[in-house]
Amino acid sequence: MSPSSVFFLLILGSMVDTKTSSEKGSLLYPYGPHQGDETNPKHDDGTSEEISLSVPFTFYGKPYKTAFVNNNGVISFDGPVRQYTPDPFPLVDGHPFVAPYWADVDNVVGGDIFYRQTTDPVLLGDISKDITQYFPKNPFTATWALVATWDHVAYYGSSSSEKGNTFQAVLTTDSKMFYIIFNYWDIQWTTGTASDGDAETGLGGTPAHAGFNSGDETNFYNIPGSQTDAIINITTTSNVKVPGRWVFRVDNFEAIGVDPPQLNNGCWL
Ligand SMILES: *[C@@H]1O[C@H](CO)[C@@H](O)[C@H](O)[C@H]1NC(C)=O
Repeated sequence: MSPSSVFFLLILGSMVDTKTSSEKGSLLYPYGPHQGDETNPKHDDGTSEEISLSVPFTFYGKPYKTAFVNNNGVISFDGPVRQYTPDPFPLVDGHPFVAPYWADVDNVVGGDIFYRQTTDPVLLGDISKDITQYFPKNPFTATWALVATWDHVAYYGSSSSEKGNTFQAVLTTDSKMFYIIFNYWDIQWTTGTASDGDAETGLGGTPAHAGFNSGDETNFYNIPGSQTDAIINITTTSNVKVPGRWVFRVDNFEAIGVDPPQLNNGCWL
């Protein structure tokens, strides 16, 4: 075969590859500086700058125009979050909160937190296809997304930087429906040492919390296992039959596929 026909077949091969990123083996949508991501500064308990959302994001009925991507595994709307030990939801201080994995990250010890707003048609196509598959009653065509990724982040007080957590939160909308996707790719620790975790293992104490806090003291959702040792296994759980992926419609909060239903105190059967 001539070199030019090999080249042609390579091009053809990449053209017919219609799989989304998750079907290619990674749950995570593309991220990192080469995707145009911003990187959070290296500060324990640090945050991004205030991000002006190019499309206001509706969460539990209220539109928000700015957001912060906080190192400690939280996206917040009305101010930065530096708290490192998670509190149970609903939070008494009334902050609306998206918590893919709220725990004591220290990006000085290891790892990075990335984010970008995107209108990239290929990525929005993948996100739309995934959400329409999970919520088939309402076909969804994303027009915007915020992709935040915690890449191999270490815990505060870690005696080595070898244990890292990698997870992602995606906020997306077509301007009518608002969805959040959590992707858990690799979770190796649950707790920093200031939350009574073990320096060697990153386990014990008050483990990480995953879920949503509306800010109104009655509406919230805890992903099963939150603040228990079992949260280490969130890479194996799902409400959409994709291990490690949890997806929610959040404009008027709707959790699908949650069986059995959760109790409000976060206990589950
Ligand atoms: C995590 O899952 C494994 C495999 O199912 C299980 O053996 C282990 O007990 C689980 N860990 C916790 C803390 O629940």
